Amino acid sequence: MRLSLAILLLFAFSVSSSAASRVRAGLQAFYDFQNADGQMVKDRSGFGEPLDLRIADAKAVRRKKGSLTIFGDTVIHSDRSAKKISKAVKQSGAITIEAWITPANRSQDGPARMVTLSRNSNERNFTLGQDGSRYQVRFRTRQTSNNGIPETASDSRVVQKKLQHVVYTRERSGRTKIYIDSKQVKQRYVGAPNSNWNESYRLALGNELSGGRPWRGTYRLVAIYSRALSPKEISQNFRAGAGAGIGRTIAEKPKKAPGEILFENKIAAILSQHCLECHDTATSKGDVDLSRKTAAIDGDLIAPGNSRKSLVWETVASDDMPEKRPALSAEEKELLKKWIDAGAHWTTEVIDPSIYEHKSEAIQVFV
Ligand code: HEC
Repeated sequence: MRLSLAILLLFAFSVSSSAASRVRAGLQAFYDFQNADGQMVKDRSGFGEPLDLRIADAKAVRRKKGSLTIFGDTVIHSDRSAKKISKAVKQSGAITIEAWITPANRSQDGPARMVTLSRNSNERNFTLGQDGSRYQVRFRTRQTSNNGIPETASDSRVVQKKLQHVVYTRERSGRTKIYIDSKQVKQRYVGAPNSNWNESYRLALGNELSGGRPWRGTYRLVAIYSRALSPKEISQNFRAGAGAGIGRTIAEKPKKAPGEILFENKIAAILSQHCLECHDTATSKGDVDLSRKTAAIDGDLIAPGNSRKSLVWETVASDDMPEKRPALSAEEKELLKKWIDAGAHWTTEVIDPSIYEHKSEAIQVFV
């Protein structure tokens, strides 16, 4: 009796300590395959609306608590668009795609789709795949094709028929790396912004959304972040292991302040559409740069928590600004005031107006 209690405690301790040690800042989607029944693989990131994945053909997979093996032709896909991922990565320009997997062989190619955010075999935001004995990532930017080509690939002979921790990171600067079992095996630049990402694409494991690019093997964990994890963080996740759940981290996850949500959903767009034309870093009319957090806040243009002391609010309320352009609507003014009074939170250092200016741009790319 006492012994089994001790074992139980030891087990509980090891589970919770490994769960606590995974990096969670910036996590967008997280699959640990802990639910082994039903048709869905659950997104346990605790971020936004869960992006659960549907197993198209249950007979093509074998599930256990903590793993899913694909041995037949199928695809495991979200029913909805993976908008929460696309939107966040468009905004940050950065990503981490992490997978604990065991490939069934070292010959499947296409590349065989392991994790993909795409529409079909030639339109994608990103794909992590296996091309024979290499891992390969296609990440679309304004300098690649709609298919994310040229791709970033590891050297050949990297793929092993054993459990591997495969991580791809891309920084906003374009610096891109692949790590296997926490060792960097590739570095290159994938330049230009990814503001042309299409927010309607769905997320899938094990095949292209349109079929024809099957991957066979076992998944233990898949995680997607909207920032590039550092080598230290990657080694932290590697050490936490393939079975490290997200556990308590959902409860611990800091909630976004209302001001941060306002900034992302409204304020960045209002500033982009009405002000940045004359007030970004290049064109700072009257020495006013409203595209950067440090310039706007340090410059006393915006006094966090106090709209009455903010020059930005003063000029907007009096319709002095935007100069020579229609005034802001009553609703836009109200939002701006509310945001400043709530603390003027920024969630990015720089506002990239290309994200907010052309709402229909993603569609135009495919015409
Ligand atoms: C078409 C160009 C243009 C647009 C658009 C524009 N501004 Fe200006 N802004 C100017 C110019 C020119 C000045 C400097 C001359 C002046 O002070 O009148 C200026 C100055 C300012 C100043 C400094 C005023 C002072 O007293 O020092 C603030 C604050 C400001 N703008 C805020 C805004 C905000 C907020 C928006 C968007 C809602 C905006 N501007 C849109 C052209 C523009």
